[in-house]
Amino acid sequence: MSKSTPASTVLVTGGGSGIGAGLAAAFHARGAKVIIAGRTRERLVAVAAKHRGMEIEVVDVADPDEVGALAARISTGFPTLDTVINNAGIQTQFDFTRAEAADPSLLGREVDVNLKGLIFVANAFLPLLKRQSNARLIHIGSGLGYVPLASVPVYSATKAAVHSFTISLRRQLADSSVHIVEIIPPVVETDLHRSQSLKPPRAMKLDAFIAAAMAGLDAGRTEIPVGLAKVLRITSRIAPGLFLNIVNKRRG
Ligand SMILES: NC(=O)c1ccc[n+]([C@@H]2O[C@H](COP(=O)([O-])OP(=O)(O)OC[C@H]3O[C@@H](n4cnc5c(N)ncnc54)[C@H](OP(=O)(O)O)[C@@H]3O)[C@@H](O)[C@H]2O)c1
Repeated sequence: MSKSTPASTVLVTGGGSGIGAGLAAAFHARGAKVIIAGRTRERLVAVAAKHRGMEIEVVDVADPDEVGALAARISTGFPTLDTVINNAGIQTQFDFTRAEAADPSLLGREVDVNLKGLIFVANAFLPLLKRQSNARLIHIGSGLGYVPLASVPVYSATKAAVHSFTISLRRQLADSSVHIVEIIPPVVETDLHRSQSLKPPRAMKLDAFIAAAMAGLDAGRTEIPVGLAKVLRITSRIAPGLFLNIVNKRRG
């Protein structure tokens, strides 16, 4: 399998909704064996019910013991696993102008899931991926990793860290059989923003996003910004202040 060859067995964290469920369906439609993982069994069951043979695994990626146990189960049950999509994530608004301090456990939860959880999954599954002659570890970043949105400061920081971690992994594993990929979404219509008062404007349709992400994978690209994330990627380098203002005026 080259960087762009279809996967045979795929694990998707956060596969019970949104982007994870969309990518899981896209790989399933191409004939891959797909396992979706997340915390809420009912959501996973509902997605799997629409796709014959799709498997489910209940896991909290923020818990390294649960992630380790999942990797052990998958190594035994699906030893040909060649693609892991590190997608689970949460987003919370924090307003540091308020008189009272934010709840530390809420602040930490976003770091635990979006950053530590992604690292735990990468760490636990790389040994199995390295046993395949060709494999892919796919991280879901965010355009906000290039340019932060001030109303979701911890989220934006975790996604910048995911981007940095992904670059380091890609560098370390350059001579291995594992391709390290980052898909970088713009705002996409999912439940990610459901707990927030602001409805993000101009969100990309989920189907269009999945089609663009799959096209990037098919082309064998390792960094796949989609839609507005492409613009943020370039402008964050050449005019960082400009897009910081635009992103935060548009949505802040
Ligand atoms: N939608 C956007 O605009 C957008 C933009 C840029 C990047 N992204 C990224 O895309 C990824 C998917 O988000 P989405 O938009 O598809 O939102 P979503 O529909 O809310 O999906 C997030 C998924 O992650 C799962 N999850 C959350 N915490 C978890 C945990 N601790 N362990 C395991 N699974 C967990 C959730 O299921 P349970 O709650 O049942 O566990 C849910 O299925 C995230 O990494 C997000 O940051 C989204």
